[in-house]
Amino acid sequence: MKINFDEGTNRKNTNSSKWDIDQRPDMLPMWVADMDFKAPAAVIRALEKRVQHGVFGYARFPDAYYEAEVSWWEKRHQYRIQKEWVGFTSGVIPALTAIVQAFTKPGDKVLIQSPVYNNFNTATTNGGCEVVINELKFNGDRYEIDFDDFERKAADEQVKLFILCNPHNPVGRVWGRDELERLGEICLAHNVIVLADEIHRDLVFEGHRHVPFASISERLLMNSITCTSPSKTFNLAGLKTANVITANEEYREKLKRQLHINGAQEPNVFGIDGLIAAYNEGEDWLNQLLVYLQGNRDHFISFVEQRLPKLKVLVPEATYLMWVDCRELDITSEELSKKLDEEEGLRLIDGGVYGEAGKGFIRMNIACTRALMTEGLERLERVVNAIS
Ligand SMILES: Cc1ncc(COP(=O)(O)O)c(C=O)c1O
Repeated sequence: MKINFDEGTNRKNTNSSKWDIDQRPDMLPMWVADMDFKAPAAVIRALEKRVQHGVFGYARFPDAYYEAEVSWWEKRHQYRIQKEWVGFTSGVIPALTAIVQAFTKPGDKVLIQSPVYNNFNTATTNGGCEVVINELKFNGDRYEIDFDDFERKAADEQVKLFILCNPHNPVGRVWGRDELERLGEICLAHNVIVLADEIHRDLVFEGHRHVPFASISERLLMNSITCTSPSKTFNLAGLKTANVITANEEYREKLKRQLHINGAQEPNVFGIDGLIAAYNEGEDWLNQLLVYLQGNRDHFISFVEQRLPKLKVLVPEATYLMWVDCRELDITSEELSKKLDEEEGLRLIDGGVYGEAGKGFIRMNIACTRALMTEGLERLERVVNAIS
């Protein structure tokens, strides 16, 4: 069935974090990373069935839950994992927190690659650890890894954990096998465990392929924990359902215990059915979504190229998040974000939220109808034109 992603869904007054953040009628949210599209029909049907049952008591995981995760890896990423490796968590953020707690002690250091998803920083500092930054290098077109710097930092004996974002939010890179292997080998050499956050693994554009970090070699598999979730892929973030994939039995037991201590391993009665339906029946929906998002991406890029010459937009290889270089403007990205919010009701995220290296950039979520995205771009254009 052909899905019409141009058909918008009104999300106002639905307790949406994205849309109901304030009551301004003209507010156009292009900030937090969820989509304005309805979930696949199969997911909605599964949840309706669950609602109709009418009893929402404590839940347990059926085999079908684990089988759905395993088979999704295989059919989408040609990677075979074992059912036993799969553990539940009520979101990737709780997983990040638990992993930092379980594998470091206060005062240790955690390595991240900035600019990067801000909760890597938060999970680290909440765990009483210090953030060590391996800044990604922007070569004018895309970001690359400074391996010498990475190795220097990983060699610090206090660095116990590296949090990898693959694909990368916000810079849109899909890391290649060679890059991942090199990072992984450096971490092994210096006894640094790798937390691979692969929540964006399914949102990869034509010409690119997600390489699961753990799939590279047995050595890297045994030195890592991978986080996944159907939340970004199928717009299910509110179901609070994610998984941690851990082949190393010692790590798995440690993490399980920490998730238990944190109360982050209890299933959500809707999340179970939602994940099973999404992974078992959502592939066609996802294929269509990717075509639509790629169209949005390309439209966004040509709009900026033609009408906003002072801005430079990176071509994301994955994710529905556009990373826009605003450093040629006479104001900071923070001032620009504030102006856009105040003058045009356009809410996006200032790149500085993702670390010092993100300053001068803005992040815009384009997982909305093309019409709405164009409206956002026009608002951006009015403000930028008034500055320059
Ligand atoms: C890299 C990354 N990890 C984790 C999350 C949040 O995951 P969850 O909603 O499952 O806690 C996000 C959300 O944007 C993200 O981009």
